[in-house]
Amino acid sequence: MHPVAIAPSILSADFARLADEAASVQAAGADFLHVDVMDGRFVPNLTLGPVLVDCLHRATPLQLDCHLMVEAPDHLLADFAKAGARWLSVHIEACPHLHRTIQRIRTLDVSPGVALNPHTAFSAIEPILGDVDFVCVMSVNPGFGGQSFIRSTLDKVRAIDAWRREHNPALRIEIDGGINATTIGEARAAGVDWFVAGSAVFGQANRGAAVAALRSAAGARSQA
Ligand code: DX5
Ligand code: ZN
Repeated sequence: MHPVAIAPSILSADFARLADEAASVQAAGADFLHVDVMDGRFVPNLTLGPVLVDCLHRATPLQLDCHLMVEAPDHLLADFAKAGARWLSVHIEACPHLHRTIQRIRTLDVSPGVALNPHTAFSAIEPILGDVDFVCVMSVNPGFGGQSFIRSTLDKVRAIDAWRREHNPALRIEIDGGINATTIGEARAAGVDWFVAGSAVFGQANRGAAVAALRSAAGARSQA
């Protein structure tokens, strides 16, 4: 099992105070920042683009995990790489030429990941698993923070975990949506390494306590 990483999602931060918000979760012990990019087409919501990622990258030492919830993301990849993304995930549902898109991310010296919606089956991503560094399993329907965890998505986590044991132990599994101190233990037990948490961190007054509570709930369960 890889170490637990807690990645606060800036979707739940105050966008007018992003540098302060990043500093606050850095002080709280976050491992990296999750950045939700939405285009108003692939998902109903609109958020931010490479210009803001560039500013954020210069404002925080935390590494940036950019989750592209956009249709046909290929034309944006170079801009996000230049803006300082450390990881870039694209949705299988938005990429008709997924293998090419993943290769392009790698040639930009960014670590590629594939994200999949709650209703997308493990069998759909299996052919690409040897080409990515991580899988982002959506445990809510993408578009908004603060939604309820869809527990059935853990079956996919278990399938990915079983696959990586046999084929690619370096693969990391990230889960995104509805993670809190109640749901994180079950996700860790299923095989998740990286935990995106929006409202469970940015929505709390004491962010240090929030990150510590997540880490402890994940750790407690993984030893069970
Ligand atoms: C949802 C986003 C998530 C979101 C998670 O579309 O991809 O990253 O910020 O928020 P919470 O943790 O509040 O469910
Ligand atoms: Zn996300």
